[in-house]
Amino acid sequence: MRIRLYALPILLLLAGLEATTVRAQQNNAPHLEKRGAATQLIVDGKPFLILGGELHNSSSSSLDYMKPIWPKLAASGLNTVVTPLSWELIEPKEGSYDFTLVDGLLSQAREAHERIVFLWLASWKNGLSSYAPVWVKQDTRRFPRVVERGSEVEILSPLGSATQEADARAYAALMQHIKEVDSRDHTVIMMQVENEVGVLGDTRDHSDAANRAFASPVPAELTSYLKVHRDALYPQLRALWDQNGDKTAGTWAQVFGDTERADEIFMAWHYAHFIQAVTARGKAAYDIPMYVNTWLAGDDTAPGDYPSGGPEPWVVDVWKAAGSALDFYAPDLYATNFTEWCKRYHRDGNPLFMPETRGGEAGAANVFYALGEEDGFGFSPFAIEDEADAKSNLAASYNLLASLTPLITEHQSAGNVHGFVLDKNHPSVDFTISGYTLHVTLDEIFGFHSESGFGIIMATGRDEFLGAGKGFRVSFTPRSASGPHVGIAAIDEGSFEDGKWIPGRRLNGDENDQGKGWRFDPRQLRTEKVTLYRFE
Ligand code: DGJ
Repeated sequence: MRIRLYALPILLLLAGLEATTVRAQQNNAPHLEKRGAATQLIVDGKPFLILGGELHNSSSSSLDYMKPIWPKLAASGLNTVVTPLSWELIEPKEGSYDFTLVDGLLSQAREAHERIVFLWLASWKNGLSSYAPVWVKQDTRRFPRVVERGSEVEILSPLGSATQEADARAYAALMQHIKEVDSRDHTVIMMQVENEVGVLGDTRDHSDAANRAFASPVPAELTSYLKVHRDALYPQLRALWDQNGDKTAGTWAQVFGDTERADEIFMAWHYAHFIQAVTARGKAAYDIPMYVNTWLAGDDTAPGDYPSGGPEPWVVDVWKAAGSALDFYAPDLYATNFTEWCKRYHRDGNPLFMPETRGGEAGAANVFYALGEEDGFGFSPFAIEDEADAKSNLAASYNLLASLTPLITEHQSAGNVHGFVLDKNHPSVDFTISGYTLHVTLDEIFGFHSESGFGIIMATGRDEFLGAGKGFRVSFTPRSASGPHVGIAAIDEGSFEDGKWIPGRRLNGDENDQGKGWRFDPRQLRTEKVTLYRFE
């Protein structure tokens, strides 16, 4: 093509503009940002709440299989699909990458107006190494395995430096590709690196290399991290270090005691070291939020029964000491003491996102607690295609929360939002916001008692609150006991459409127990505003 001379400045200007736009798009990549009281996920410049779900492990390996699933997920109120992507399919032959599946999944997701969180299933998935390419599995010399009771098992050892390099190289190539095809659309908003890592079947790797490392001094990066962060350490880790004399030098057994806990910390250090390095290589190619998930320990279970070394709350500090590439640590939360586990992960600057959890009725309720009470930025039940139903309880919760997203994120930052789940064992909860104590209980009227309830409440103005949920009622007490009495001036139901409040019925009479309480009917999810008045 011949370019006329007079056109040159215009072309240069356009090229300059394009370069500026590309730079701006890169800077605008999805990222985490501390905004006021909460750390939020920012997508396209705005706080984003992941109303998501994780697919079964094998679904996203086939575009044909996925094709009919995307629209069903979209119709069920999901805005994000947590999507497995495996090393074996990306690099079937060493050094030759195939991103056809990635491109296909991106285009299907875009057509359905969905975002993606990819799960990088590489060296480990549920502790084991079944997703590594066969050229890795076969070469046990180059890619050494964990040894348990004298035998190699199908778990790649995190002490294998060639394994780390091979995984990191593939992950960096993947992130480079995602950057090339997605840095404008931001369909991919986050990456999970590996899946539920840790040694299963034993407390630690007993290979020769691991035994030598275990008998060597604890790296100074770890002991100095413990020293500098002593006051903020997770209580169990701090107690263990204290019990053993707060040593800053010594072998693992000397510093942490000669028990299975030292083995777990040793494995945490090595998994963390490996995965922080893989993550850093991916981030150098394309910097979007990256995290690791956790198979949570059961009550009274020992490391090895759950993957030993994964980021359980009591070793997250060890993971942080090994590097800062990972943005946060996430629980796969199936336990029934849901709120306790949320608190164990939402601490010390770690924001809450759960890539796997229970869906159904439990999920439809728990999402209100995670986003409302723990400032979570996402929720994602596992096996989501099994409940892809526009009429499901989860879909109803997601649709309502989607309509409230700008308000929820604004009030997370302001620190004046609360979420709750009530049942017979936890029939009430109290919050203090905006000059009032709110007493929230299971709903009851004319002798009818609701058995469960959940919701979210935020202070939207002086003497004004917005709530959403079902099956509960709220009474208000002014914080200062000597202050005036409080009454309900008005309650309006309504909904938000494109951020605009569309009022519905004025709720009075039976609907507010003749002015005695702010009620949320147990039969259906509702959004309501209440205004209070004060009198002497
Ligand atoms: C947790 C794992 O992370 C998932 O990939 C899946 O295997 C589920 N468990 C099965 O319930």
